[in-house]
Amino acid sequence: MPEGLRAVEAAARTHDVSVDFTEFDFASAEYYEKHGEMLPSDWYDVLEGFDAILFGAVGWPDVVPDHVSLWGSLLQFRRGFDQYVNLRPCRLLPGVPSPLAGREPGDIDFVVVRENTEGEYSSIGGRMFEGTDREFVVQETVMTRVGVDRVVTYAFELAQRREAKHLTSATKSNGISISMPYWDERVAEIGARYPDVDRDQFHIDILAANFVLRPGHFDVVVASNLFGDILSDLGPACTGTIGVAPSANINPERAHPSLFEPVHGSAPDIAGKGVANPVGQIWSAAMMLEHLGHAAAGQSILDSIESVLAERSADVVTPDLGGAGTTTSLGAAITERIG
Ligand code: NAD
Ligand code: IPM
Ligand code: MN
Repeated sequence: MPEGLRAVEAAARTHDVSVDFTEFDFASAEYYEKHGEMLPSDWYDVLEGFDAILFGAVGWPDVVPDHVSLWGSLLQFRRGFDQYVNLRPCRLLPGVPSPLAGREPGDIDFVVVRENTEGEYSSIGGRMFEGTDREFVVQETVMTRVGVDRVVTYAFELAQRREAKHLTSATKSNGISISMPYWDERVAEIGARYPDVDRDQFHIDILAANFVLRPGHFDVVVASNLFGDILSDLGPACTGTIGVAPSANINPERAHPSLFEPVHGSAPDIAGKGVANPVGQIWSAAMMLEHLGHAAAGQSILDSIESVLAERSADVVTPDLGGAGTTTSLGAAITERIG
């Protein structure tokens, strides 16, 4: 987060943009340890007045069960502020080797548009007959017409603005026989309004295989909440490291603040060692500036990220990129070059 903030400040300075930050300590496991909950009861009113939320990664499974920390924070923000689009670009950058043989920068460049407020992430269901041999659990998937249509429409609009004008839908209507045929039906109906956008669909299993086998096929990939979650870790893995992947949780109507955060989690295995790749956080901050109408400032951050990574300086880049650098060395190199 400090590296993300420094990059925003540098871009704002060089582009004459004024940015005010307010920092909050809630939505963290440390806050939970002190208060027994992730958020204060007035969190909605406190955050609602802001233009955007720049969010770090949350989760400390040794201290707070993951479903408690995430349902008590990030998932509340996404739902409360109706951030129904989760935009997750995935691009193979110069200087970042792909684990897939023979892929060069330019070969992988797609965006996952993930449904972000419903779908498989529902709290409808329950556990019954606990502790008996009849014990069972049920958890429902919810797809509303409004919920599916708005994210699919957003994805088609995005595809139409991109050069390749190609949209892929992630489905599983062969096995998940109620919700996924409904998803397909909505995608087909909405797609008919975008005759200039090429449309295809894959079942999620073979879609995952194709991310690895021919990632260049994809341009805009629209997916339900869970499928989008999985694809947006797999995509960045194909582009070298999940440490660079950004995301924008967007309320397109701008009725509420949107939230910008890296795709990765709190990385407990390396937390506190100072070696986490800051690019996911910094790139997310660039998406925030673009969302707020400061496209040039956002672009200056992205240009700087690309130029620093392209050099692959072993002292600067973090271990996930094959270097011996630190969060600070990589963050500072990017910030210094902005503008
Ligand atoms: P993770 O993304 O935290 O870590 C997976 C692997 O990727 C780890 O080996 C980690 O070291 C590595 N990694 C992640 N970010 C990195 C970075 N910036 N630089 C270098 N390496 C990086 O996923 P996980 O292990 O499944 O989850 C850990 C915790 O984070 C859990 O509590 C989980 O619920 C939470 N989580 C939070 C978010 C979020 O806040 N948006 C997202 C995913 C997971
Ligand atoms: C993400 C994360 C979250 C999700 C978790 C932490 C609840 O994996 O933002 O991708 O599943 O949405
Ligand atoms: Mn995820």
